[in-house]
Amino acid sequence: MSKEELDFLKRRRSIRRFLPEQIQPEQLKAIEEAAVLSASAMNEQAWFFAVIQREDIIEQLEELADSEGAFYGARTVIVLFGKEDAIAPETDTILAAADMMHAAVAVNLGTCFIYLAKKLFNDPRYSQLKAACGVPEGYTCYGSLAVGIPDQEIPKPSKRRYDVFSYIR
Ligand SMILES: Cc1cc2nc3c(=O)[nH]c(=O)nc-3n(C[C@H](O)[C@H](O)[C@H](O)COP(=O)(O)O)c2cc1C
Repeated sequence: MSKEELDFLKRRRSIRRFLPEQIQPEQLKAIEEAAVLSASAMNEQAWFFAVIQREDIIEQLEELADSEGAFYGARTVIVLFGKEDAIAPETDTILAAADMMHAAVAVNLGTCFIYLAKKLFNDPRYSQLKAACGVPEGYTCYGSLAVGIPDQEIPKPSKRRYDVFSYIR
């Protein structure tokens, strides 16, 4: 991997402040392309993504979760779902999410993984949410991505642990 490529990976940091403008359709396309090209168990592609770009719906989700500002003002929220009867739906979906986060960097956008969507979309009390977002039957939510135009400097990586490798040589 070239130094440029490694530096590119370092530019993926969680962004928690976004401009009020919507992202461009070509930027969304790039993110979607990265998602569908992701690795998946037996190439099942056991994912589904609800791309929410309506500000009122994003606010409603925050209200339902009793968590104002949870999406940090992002104008696009991508809710991540996996097909329950697939081989490895959570792994497939989260790998795709990681690829989407890196693709977002390539098109000058920022992302933050937001966990609370998982609680909301899997809560039987809000079962109508999935249907309203066009999610097929039999899919579980694993979280969401806030996606937008960063309104902050890209933060430096926070402290990392390096004692997480063993070497069997
Ligand atoms: C599974 C998961 C859930 C996360 N949930 C949230 C969240 O709900 N809100 C938030 O602000 N950040 C959330 N994050 C972002 C992490 O806080 C962030 O990735 C971590 O602090 C490392 O910072 P970095 O992304 O800038 O490298 C989540 C990240 C992951 C992987």
